[in-house]
This record gives sequence, structure tokens and C-alpha cells, in this order.
Amino acid sequence: MPIQIAFMADPHLCVQPRRRNVMSLLDRKLWEKIDVFGSRQDQGDAQYFSPLRPSSYDEIPLLAAADFLGEFSRQLDLLVVLGDLATTGMDVDISVAEQVFLNQKTKQHLTAGLEPRLGGLGLNMHVIPGNHDRYKDDFATPGCQAFDEVFRPVYQPTKGVCSEVVGDDDLGVGLVSADFCFAEGADVNYLRRLGRGAVDDVVLSELDFQTRSLQKKHPEMPVIWALHFSPMDGVKTGLILEEREKVTHLAQRLGVNHIFCGHTHLRKREIGTHPHIYCAGSVSSADSTNNHFLHICTVDNGPSGGMELEVTDLRYNEASDEFEPFGVSRAA
Ligand SMILES: [Fe+2]
Repeated sequence: MPIQIAFMADPHLCVQPRRRNVMSLLDRKLWEKIDVFGSRQDQGDAQYFSPLRPSSYDEIPLLAAADFLGEFSRQLDLLVVLGDLATTGMDVDISVAEQVFLNQKTKQHLTAGLEPRLGGLGLNMHVIPGNHDRYKDDFATPGCQAFDEVFRPVYQPTKGVCSEVVGDDDLGVGLVSADFCFAEGADVNYLRRLGRGAVDDVVLSELDFQTRSLQKKHPEMPVIWALHFSPMDGVKTGLILEEREKVTHLAQRLGVNHIFCGHTHLRKREIGTHPHIYCAGSVSSADSTNNHFLHICTVDNGPSGGMELEVTDLRYNEASDEFEPFGVSRAA
């Protein structure tokens, strides 16, 4: 049986679903619909406009994602969530993420009230914080530690880095993730902290250490990395990972060929370079209308004996209300 890992990025859970802000208006040309913001419509179609507060999530694609994962949960070895589980790290927001990802009481992917409960699937889960999870308030003040406390059952980093083995030495993959969000007290101006991250040398050196440790223990096993921020070329200035070259150079030095990341909310592939970089689209961000994604990474033994890795993208189709295959990337 191949190994199958589901990747999901940027759900942006929040106490207030479907909240949009000024940036949403500019990105999506939503001023044409501004009359629907700011006041609740009927209960099923509520939208909010809040000029400066972070935009939040759309529960419709999130429910479809829960349906998909519920249907295929027995075939999945792991669910990786690539950051921005919540819109902010404040209690009101992160407790919604806690309910969705950690609440196991339902034993299935939905409550009776049709609220998603991915924790109910009993999947192994690997999570990393994103910049939004680290916001202490609606003004992007970095350094919130609530994520570490709330997600402790599935998130126990050493110096911002977590690692695990999925599968075994016959067919397996090592997964190492790192948190490059700004630390508490970091002196960053408003525009930088809104969307940027920075490579922290302590975290980078731990990423180096944990990757080498896995490679030493399992010499035949490929190691993949999971980050929130994308080290890819061409990321918008406001969303870049500062000193991203340190990450790609380290990956090249260690022979890490695959990096999965979120943050940009845009599905993008940098295949053929080393490392290959897979940018995940947001699963349910309110700003990603018609552009919500899930991704399945399959690792299997290839015909030539080595392991092969394939990433299938699934995009949410509003008409069918399902995630449907969108494209496949193959890389050794
Ligand atoms: Fe995000």
C-alpha cells in the first residue's frame, strides 16, 4: 500500500465566518458587493466587512473538505496542516480551530449541526503555526503562544521544529516542519508583520539537526519539509520569507528534494528545481473564492526500485460542492 498524506493550508478559522477586509476588496474587486457587507443577511448567507481585521473563512468549502477527508480517511496515513489554522491566536478564534481539529467526541467528520470536526476522523495529524496563529490581536502583533498550548496534543516542537516518520524503512518518508513566524517581542513594523516571516537561525539549525538525525537513522528514507511560508521565487513582497535562500540552500545541502508550504493561498508548483516546492492553496480562506484546495501526496516504490512521490491537487467546485482532481505533479 502506498503512503498517502493529505496536505491542507490556511483554513483561517475564526469566531466570525466569512469576514472580509479592505485587502479582500482590493484583491477580489468586492466593492461591487459592498452593500452586502456590514450587516447580517439571512442566517445562511451572512457576510461581514471589517476594514482592518484579518479576513476569515468560508465554512462551505471547509465542510466539503471534511466530507472528502471523511470519505478517504482510511486510506490516509497523515493529515498535515500547513499553518494559519486560526485567523488570530486570540482565544475566540483559536478555540474554533481547536474544536475543528482536536475535538474527537463526534467520532466522525461532522457534528449533528453540520459543523466540521476533523479531529473526529481519528487521523494522525501534523500541524504547524502560521503567522495568523501567532497574532496576539487583530492588529497582527506577533508572538502569541496560545497555539502551542491549544495544539500541544499534536504539536510539541523543539526550537520550533517537529519531525516524524510516516511508514517504515520498507516504505516510508521522514517529515520535518519548522516555524519561521516572528517571535514574541520581535521588532517588526506593521506591514512586515502582516504577511512576512523570517528565517530564524536557531530554528534553521534545529531543522538541519532533526533532518540529519532522521537521515542517519533511516538512510534509505526520503525526507520532506513542511513550512508555512513559501521559499519559492516570485512570492509577493508582502508575503515573503525573509532570507528564504537559507532554507533552499540547506535543503540542497541535505538532499531534501520536496518542500510543502502554504501562506500565499495560491496553488503553485516549482518542479524541476531542487528542492521542488509545492505551494498549497487555502482550503477555506474567505479571500480564496473559487480557489480552495486540498492536496494528496502519494509515496510509493517506483519500477526502478527507488521511491516515487506524486502530488494530486483537488480544487473545490462550487457547482458540485466537492473537491475534484485538478492536476498532478510527479517528481522523484
Ligand atoms: Fe493564510
